[in-house]
Order: sequence, then C-alpha cells, then structure tokens
Amino acid sequence: MRVAELGLDPRIVEILKAQGIEELYPPQADAIGPALLGENLVLAIPTASGKSLVAYLAILASVLRGGKALYIVPLRALATEKYDQLRAFEPLGIKVGISMGDYDSVDPSLEKFDVMVATSERADSLLRHRTNWLQRLSVVVADEVHLINDADRGPTLEVTLAKLRQVNPKAQVLALSATIQNSNQLAEWLEAEHVTSDWRPVPLKQGVYFDGLVHFVDGAVQPVDVEEDDLSGLVTDIMATGGQALIFVNTRRSTEALARSLSRDVRQKLVEKDVDHLAKVSEALVRGQEEATSMGARLGRCIEGGVAFHHAGLTNDQRGRVEKEFRKGRLRCIVATPTLAMGVDLPARRVVIRDLNRFDVNYGLTPIPVLEVKQMCGRAGRPRYDPYGEAILFAKELDDVDELMEEYFRSPPEAIESKLGSEPALRMHVLANVATGHAGSEEELFAFFNRTFFAFQGDVDSIRGKIVEVLTFLEKEEFINRHDGFLKATFFGKRTSDLYIDPLSAVKMRDALRKSRDDPIFHLWSICATPDMPKLYLRRGDYAWVEQKIEEAEFTFPIEDYDFFLAEVKTAALLDDWIAERTE
Ligand SMILES: Nc1ncnc2c1ncn2[C@@H]1O[C@H](COP(=O)(O)OP(=O)(O)OP(=O)(O)O)[C@@H](O)[C@H]1O
Ligand SMILES: [Mg+2]
Repeated sequence: MRVAELGLDPRIVEILKAQGIEELYPPQADAIGPALLGENLVLAIPTASGKSLVAYLAILASVLRGGKALYIVPLRALATEKYDQLRAFEPLGIKVGISMGDYDSVDPSLEKFDVMVATSERADSLLRHRTNWLQRLSVVVADEVHLINDADRGPTLEVTLAKLRQVNPKAQVLALSATIQNSNQLAEWLEAEHVTSDWRPVPLKQGVYFDGLVHFVDGAVQPVDVEEDDLSGLVTDIMATGGQALIFVNTRRSTEALARSLSRDVRQKLVEKDVDHLAKVSEALVRGQEEATSMGARLGRCIEGGVAFHHAGLTNDQRGRVEKEFRKGRLRCIVATPTLAMGVDLPARRVVIRDLNRFDVNYGLTPIPVLEVKQMCGRAGRPRYDPYGEAILFAKELDDVDELMEEYFRSPPEAIESKLGSEPALRMHVLANVATGHAGSEEELFAFFNRTFFAFQGDVDSIRGKIVEVLTFLEKEEFINRHDGFLKATFFGKRTSDLYIDPLSAVKMRDALRKSRDDPIFHLWSICATPDMPKLYLRRGDYAWVEQKIEEAEFTFPIEDYDFFLAEVKTAALLDDWIAERTE
C-alpha cells in the first residue's frame, strides 16, 4: 500500500518521502484503516515493524482536525526519539512538546501544544491537575504498553489509560507493543481493533555465544574472531562488517567498567579521522557539563575510544550526545542498562545481552523476564540502519547454550498482568483518585477501579474488598476524611499524593517526626525504613558494625524482619557518612 494513496495531507506524504518512506509495510497496511478512522487499536507486531508510523499518522489526522495528542513512552531515550520524529511534522503547523523527568519544554503553557510526548509518570502528572486538557485529548498513544506488566511503573500507566477512557471516552487509544502474548485481552479491555503479525522488515538472527562461537537458533554456528576478550571480540567482529554494537549489562557500574575496557580495544580499530572527531565530542561533552563530575570525565575518556556507557545516571545532555553520536556511526558501541532496552531505533547491528540476571531488593539475583530480553534483542536490525540484525545472549557454560535458546528464543514472552492489585499501588492510586478530585465517594472509586485492566483480569468483588481495606487504612491514618459519604483528602493526603510516594512511607516518616528525637541517624533510618527507599544489600561482614550502630543509636530491635532492619540501618549509615563527607 502506497503512502501517497492514503488520502493524507500531501505535505505529510512529502515529509515521509524525504525520509525514504513511500510504501507501508504489510502490518502497517493492516492497521492504518482503523488508525485513521480514529478507532482504538492494539498493534502487536514485531520490533522494528514500524508501529510508530501508524501512531504518527493517526495523530496527524486527528490534530489537523483540531485535536490534541499525547504520546506516552517508558524511557527518556524513547521520549526524545519520538519528540524528534514528530517535530519533523511541524511544517504542518503543529506544535510538539516533551515532558520527561528533569527536562520539560512545557508546564504552564501545555495548552499551546498539539502533541505532547511524555514518559508515563509525567503523563500521569500532566493529566492529574488538568482536566481541561484531558478532555481535549483526541488521541493517546501508549507505546511499549507491556509496561503495564511492570510492578513499579505499570499501575501508573494503567490508571492513566483508565482515567482517560472514563473522562474522555471519545479519545482514540493506540496501544503498541512487540512483546505481548495476551494482546487480545488488552484489545478487549480497550475495546480496540486488534492487529497482530509476525512480519519484520529486517531479519533478526538470534543466537547464544559461547567460547568463540555463536550458536544461532536456526542451527547455524558462526565463529567470532576473538583474541583475548570475548566481548571485545564480539564488538570488533561486527565493526569489521561496518556494523555497531549495543551491549546490555545489569548495573551502572558494569556499564562503566565494560565501556572502559572495550574502548581500549575499539580504539585500535578506528581511523585517524574518527579519533579526531571523537576527541572533539569528548571535549565538548566534558565542557558542556553544568557541573563537572567524575562520571562525566569517565564518559569522556570512553568516548575517545569509540565506546560509551548509558545508564539512568547520565544527564539529559550526556545521554543526548551519546545517542546522537551512535546514530551517526561515530560511536561504535554503547554499553547500557535497560535505559535503552525498549523501543529505541538505533543502528545496532549486533545486540549482546551479557547479563541475564538482575539484582532485586526483595529476591536477590533474579532472571530478567523473557519479555524484556526480547525487547533488548529487538534493538538489533532496524530498517533505517542495517540490512540484518543479530541478537546474542552470552552463555557462561556450554551447557547453558541450549537452555538459553529454549527459554528466550523458542518460548513466548510472559503474558502481561496488571500489577495494580499490589498493596502499595492500590494505596497510592486510591489516594490519588480522591486527592485529585477524580473520585468523591466510595461508589465513584469502585466505578473507576472497575474500568482498570486489573478489574478486567480479576474478580470485581475481591477488588471492592481490597479498596475498602485501603480506604480504612487511609482514613485511620488521616489521609482522607469522610463526611456524609463524601471522601476528601486532608492536607497530608494531598501532599503525599503530590509526592508520588506510598502512603505507608508517609505514615512512617510522620510517626518518626512525632517522636521526641532529634538525632539525624534516627530520622535517616526512618526514611530508609519506608517502602519507597531502596535498601543496601547486607553482606556478612556488615552484621557486627551495623549491630553496634543500632546499640549506639539506641534503636529497639524488631522481633521480625531482623535482616531488613539491619539493611535499613546500614543504608541510613551510608547516607549519614555521605552527608558528613566521610571517606570510604
Ligand atoms: N513503511 C516504512 N518504510 C520504510 N521505513 C519504515 C517504514 N515504517 C517505519 N519505517 C522505519 O522503521 C524503523 C522502525 O520503526 P519503529 O521504531 O516505529 O518500529 P517499532 O515497530 O516501533 O519497533 P519497536 O517494537 O522496537 O519499538 C524506523 O526507523 C522507521 O522510520
Ligand atoms: Mg516502537
């Protein structure tokens, strides 16, 4: 199907033509009808198959008729990518804005934008206090909608979508994802057209690396020219084909350590012109820092060798520069945490997933979900950049090869499940509904929660029960008052809701403040004892000194959760040392 035959504004056709897009991909052709007609759509088609274009065209059609659009993404890198791509359409007279974390092109003047790109948390906060804007929205895109499955971030996205559909049922919802097994359920929930396909524009070869060989799913075995180091061999080997590499590891510290060691080897393979350019990039990055940091300096040094690290601690300026230089092909390799795992369109001919486990505060080292691994794999082989892609898992032993192949490549991803039923999520969202004035009575709360994916997947009676329990807690702890059946948030309730913290955290901090203690370690501990605070891991060698600290501070030992308590105190002690600028 030709773009020119879709009946679009001719300027759109021209802009796309200039980007080399004249023909729709087959799954795009399946989806474009409902998209342009303003119907809800769940588009569950493979990575790199062009889901965004379908969403852009739906947005443009609607905005040119006077509508407003919100494009929700999970990651900052993705927000900037979508913002840049949508801005290509500004010659049509539309205005695009972006809102993510510490960088905001909006706020007071939200009204003047026709399209807003926002990370899911920002989208929620944009909609909380701006009912007018919410009512004017004509299209909402939930990109990487499998985020609903994420225990921390999923409930906010789910609640945003449910709220939108309640306040503004006419708005079109487009939900996009490559990795949902139960997309039919999502489509039913959203009362949406459902388009699925297996078609990918660029072949993605998937394999497992062990000891100099990549074992591909199709049975092929390919040697990799590694000298001493496996990972640096995987990188320089793909560079020899003119490609670039993206490596996923599980901690920020690992991104930096690996980028540093790879940059030494990659540098040997660079021509002089590249080295000169990278030196300038590095210098500009270091000079451009608002505040000189040692991390900035480390990043600069890696970049000189053609490699960068990418994690949530980078400033937006650093992140933007790294992504840009990688897109231009000057940086040959990025080592990232999951900050680049979803949706981003990068020239990564080879993706390597080194770590398949990640540290979880509650469970220790846990395997990364299949869904996430598939997302990371999908960063390889993007049509704009590469004729093929390779996604390679890293096996530690030969025996792991088959197992990894089975688990990650031959099995479907996990079904997505609402996480709104977890206690912290329910506490936060019940309170938010009351504090923002969205629900003014118990019945209105039930009515709202009945519209969530959580209710769709679960049993409505048990949800009522849970909401009643949460309300009882919120009333008892003075977040909410009830008069004649009307619910109203107190000042404490509003403040807690605005801070996006678990009400239980607020209770713990409030109770600590009411105690007649003014020693900093006590209050630091009370912060560290909240569910919102990530705690340090307790090592065997920590017990003695932490227990001593507890005695000195005259804390009462709890009977249960002794290890948790110690971890809280250890975390508080670290903060205390940091504040006092004590050295390690
Ligand atoms: N019809 C087309 N012809 C040529 N290129 C296209 C077409 N549609 C999309 N593309 C290009 O394909 C690339 C991938 O598109 P996009 O990022 O939308 O994929 P996606 O389906 O969202 O993948 P993911 O699941 O990884 O997010 C982009 O560079 C886009 O410009
Ligand atoms: Mg996408």
